[in-house]
Amino acid sequence: MHNMTKKVTISFDDKTIELPLIVGSEGERAIDISSLRAKTGLITLDSGYANTASCLSSITFIDGEKSILNYRGYPIKMLAEGYDFISIAWLLIFGELPTTEERSSFRKILTKEELLHENLLHHFKAFPDYGHPMAMLSAVVNSMGCYDQTLLEAGHPKDFLLSASIIISKIRTIAACTYRKSMGLPLNYPNPAHSYSANFLHMMFSLPHKEHVPNPDAVKALDLFFLLHADHEQNCSCSTVRMVGSSNASIFASVSAGISALWGPLHGGANAAVIEMLESIQNGEHTIDELLELVKQKKKKLMGFGHRVYKNIDPRANLLKTAAENLLEKLKIADPLLDIAMELYEKATKDSYCIEKNLHPNVDFYSGIVLRALNIPVNMFPVMFAIGRTPGWIAHWHEGQLNDKKIQRPRQVYVGETLRSL
Ligand code: CMC
Repeated sequence: MHNMTKKVTISFDDKTIELPLIVGSEGERAIDISSLRAKTGLITLDSGYANTASCLSSITFIDGEKSILNYRGYPIKMLAEGYDFISIAWLLIFGELPTTEERSSFRKILTKEELLHENLLHHFKAFPDYGHPMAMLSAVVNSMGCYDQTLLEAGHPKDFLLSASIIISKIRTIAACTYRKSMGLPLNYPNPAHSYSANFLHMMFSLPHKEHVPNPDAVKALDLFFLLHADHEQNCSCSTVRMVGSSNASIFASVSAGISALWGPLHGGANAAVIEMLESIQNGEHTIDELLELVKQKKKKLMGFGHRVYKNIDPRANLLKTAAENLLEKLKIADPLLDIAMELYEKATKDSYCIEKNLHPNVDFYSGIVLRALNIPVNMFPVMFAIGRTPGWIAHWHEGQLNDKKIQRPRQVYVGETLRSL
């Protein structure tokens, strides 16, 4: 998939060296600088790794200029229209769409693994009711590693399917528990009769005296939400998972670290920040024009806009926009925030600042509208992102275990005090 026959020549001082040029399967070219320091004494500095590939990967391809997002070579739109989240989880992790038998046996393992160990449930008693669901999610996912010591070792392909299934299945149960805890409601057990996404809605909303019957349109929209979040190559949380995994830490510890990385408002917390921004317009804190002015003055960020990789529309945003409109129509919900979002979209995309900075809506711009229609509270939004992103984290953890031979350990350019005496 990549060749190293071409070279890049670099001259520094009076030395000229050649470094290999790596070409990815979609034509992306990268200079392999691994011998740079040995040959010249130089290292590279790349703030935020914006220009650095940390690994070779075969999982997800993004062309941010052309709005392309492919999982294992398949365009996201095609997958979203023809497959469900569980099939896509399999595709990401194992490289091929599942056969009917594989899909059915995967579903059986997920169903078998959906319950939490009763001791794990006790963790929720100890958390304060006001604790953030992401803090609980990260802590309990890490604690899952205590319950099966055989799965703690890194890289074990024999147990990998089981570890992956345990996390994908139980993270949904844990996520629902974080919500129930925060609402002071009894924790619900999963119901094996439900599909993956319907089961989540059941665990969220069933009451002791009233079983929640998930609406098929709501289930479809939730499944699409999970699918569209399933992977996005080397973003902050994925890179965190790979970095933690590179120390040979377990899959549970690595995914738990990924959840922590996702929590921030510049990453998985952005969907909640979008809703806060739309509400600030709704409650008259400022008009759309005033908000855009504040953005220009760098006093505010336009949440749900901009992306490190996409310099064109995020293809997931288009799919979620349509899903949000369909869902509101089917559930007969009139959400004024969707109207505000549409107006903001119209104005922002014509705004000179947004044009100059290449700011287009990203996945988070419409996802909050979908989640609100599903009655998911705002503090659960990053948790929803985490459930969706779990297959991607697992696929990258596994790829890292198989291919990345070195612990990840960047260098630095030291700019502090030189040797001092007291
Ligand atoms: N609002 C206002 N200005 C922005 C925005 C924004 N949302 N995004 C980028 N800019 C400006 C930024 O200030 C900078 O200006 P200047 O050239 O004057 O310094 C320029 O555009 C380049 O931006 P950057 O910060 O260098 O871009 P980045 O690649 O480091 O940041 C980002 C990417 C997603 C963190 C950023 O666009 C952002 O903060 N967006 C808002 C938060 C958000 O929606 N996050 C969700 C991302 S998609 C889901 C995910 O992957 O987590």
